Amino acid sequence: MSACSVPAAAMPLPAKPGPCAFGMTGDTATALGAPDMQTPAPLLDDAAIRALFDTALAAARDWHAACPVQRGFAPWPDDLAYVPRAPVPVPGIAELIADPGEASDISRPLRDALLAIAPFVEWRLGYTEDEVGADFLRRYGWFELAGPEGHFHTLRTRITVGYWGRGLFYPRHQHEPEELYTVVSGHALFHADGEADLTLAPGQTRLHRANQPHALTTAQSPILTLVFWRGAGLAQPPRISAA
Ligand SMILES: [Fe+2]
Repeated sequence: MSACSVPAAAMPLPAKPGPCAFGMTGDTATALGAPDMQTPAPLLDDAAIRALFDTALAAARDWHAACPVQRGFAPWPDDLAYVPRAPVPVPGIAELIADPGEASDISRPLRDALLAIAPFVEWRLGYTEDEVGADFLRRYGWFELAGPEGHFHTLRTRITVGYWGRGLFYPRHQHEPEELYTVVSGHALFHADGEADLTLAPGQTRLHRANQPHALTTAQSPILTLVFWRGAGLAQPPRISAA
């Protein structure tokens, strides 16, 4: 059974590991030798940084190729072009490095490749303290791996990476493009207007329709996600939904 042989409407987290949650080990980035964000980013030349981004992109491509749900949502873009971007750190990088969440055997290469580029990424927050709170802004972050403003340029999709530490609530928000969340490590409870809440683990997916308000809650685990967008408005940011 493949890592992503789960239905588009992902199933609740099973009491026992499901088909996409096998192989969890509870290992940590520290155990794997990932960089410690409490210290300065490693000194690497441009070629070495480019190699890390190429590895991350290849891991994301393999992750997409292994998952029929992802392939059905959008083809892998064939026009990707690397764009050098200056790193923009956010406070949440330290928590990501220290506590990335459990991966599966299938998702571990992508998780570790994303951790390797974390010190060199153009991170974003996108919300104000009034919208999400100060603790949220300290313990989350996202970046555009590929897309109109990504580390790899394409106009055909937008592929972002999002991280939320433990015990956070991402309020209801929405955007015009359709969205497919895929869980790389950790797990969280996903909410979407008109649908049942679902807890998703590595390899599981969640589809959000155009302008469908949705939210996310982490509890005893952080979550690291790879998110695909399709449709109009790829360069537009999400916005908090009306109550
Ligand atoms: Fe979204």
